[in-house]
Amino acid sequence: ADTQTGQLRQIYALSADLFHHILINTAIGEPALNYLHQRGLSDETIETFYLGFAPTQQVLLPFLKDRNFSRELLVRSGLFSEGNDGSLYQRFKERVLFPIRDPQKRVIAFSGRLLTKNDQLPKYLNSPETVLFNKRKVLFNFDLAKGEIRQQGFAILFEGFMDVISAYQAGVHQGVASMGTSLTNEQIYLLERTTERLCLCYDGDSPGQKATARALQLLQPLTKLELGVIPIPGQRDPDEYINQESPAAFVKLVENGQQNQMSFWFSFLATERNLTNENDQLAYISDVLEKIAGVASPVARDLYLGQLAKRFSLDKKSLAGQLHSLLQQQA
Ligand code: CTP
Ligand code: MN
Ligand code: MN
Ligand code: MN
Ligand code: MN
Repeated sequence: ADTQTGQLRQIYALSADLFHHILINTAIGEPALNYLHQRGLSDETIETFYLGFAPTQQVLLPFLKDRNFSRELLVRSGLFSEGNDGSLYQRFKERVLFPIRDPQKRVIAFSGRLLTKNDQLPKYLNSPETVLFNKRKVLFNFDLAKGEIRQQGFAILFEGFMDVISAYQAGVHQGVASMGTSLTNEQIYLLERTTERLCLCYDGDSPGQKATARALQLLQPLTKLELGVIPIPGQRDPDEYINQESPAAFVKLVENGQQNQMSFWFSFLATERNLTNENDQLAYISDVLEKIAGVASPVARDLYLGQLAKRFSLDKKSLAGQLHSLLQQQA
């Protein structure tokens, strides 16, 4: 079993080399390389993340067969699918490949992005789970980010691989992403061993905001990590923001634009509500009070209560009364 794992590692290392070579040095890779350049990535960044391109042509099978890997192992690698006639087909076709690395910097999987939009196919396709790759345990870019997370005192969680990579190129090196799912206990544990603070930097569009709200609700009871949010202005994702504004503007957002959880809720709970309408006001106040009731520190609760009262010119005492009954319901 040990030698099988070792051979799987070899298969992934060799595949990463092949797909990277195709991207960088061949005519087949040229459209993909142009695509990445158009998206603002430098050759240095492409090298750092060892990006690749899997063409339509079945390049991987002959390449690995030449190196005498058994058919069984090729099937196990997850890099092929088996046709009805028993033949093997390359899983990734016409996709830009993002190698997924373990904390020891070894490639253990790929995520592949379609080079051209196709509504019949998923935009991103991941390797299936193997003995090397348990997607619950992996944080994309954790190996490169770890040192900077320690140094800066916080990690940044992005939604997408391109967000992590563009941020990295902009000089923000402490970014990670999960594999397109919400954070698992294993990923939270990995972060908790490294830092005390986590900032969510999700897409600025409505799905991204909702995902931020869900993530905070999920994480709050599970973790001791101090949670923050870096909101991206104008319905864009971090990658788009960096390209449309500038790398320096993004660095500023990271340095000066961090919200604590309650500021996020104050603004998020106001979205899709008309706060000049009394019913909406009441619903908003009751939602915010519920969030305040979830805050552990009595001093912080008092501070937020004061802010809420001021905003609607309310008597703080009546709000405190309502908060008190919420707190008793919880106890
Ligand atoms: N995702 C996925 N499968 C999809 C779409 C998205 O797994 N069909 C995951 C990917 O990890 C992706 C993340 O969800 O990076 C965020 O999705 P989205 O914002 O749609 O993609 P972007 O990362 O912005 O991708 P791009 O900029 O390349 O279009
Ligand atoms: Mn750095
Ligand atoms: Mn999105
Ligand atoms: Mn994007
Ligand atoms: Mn996005």
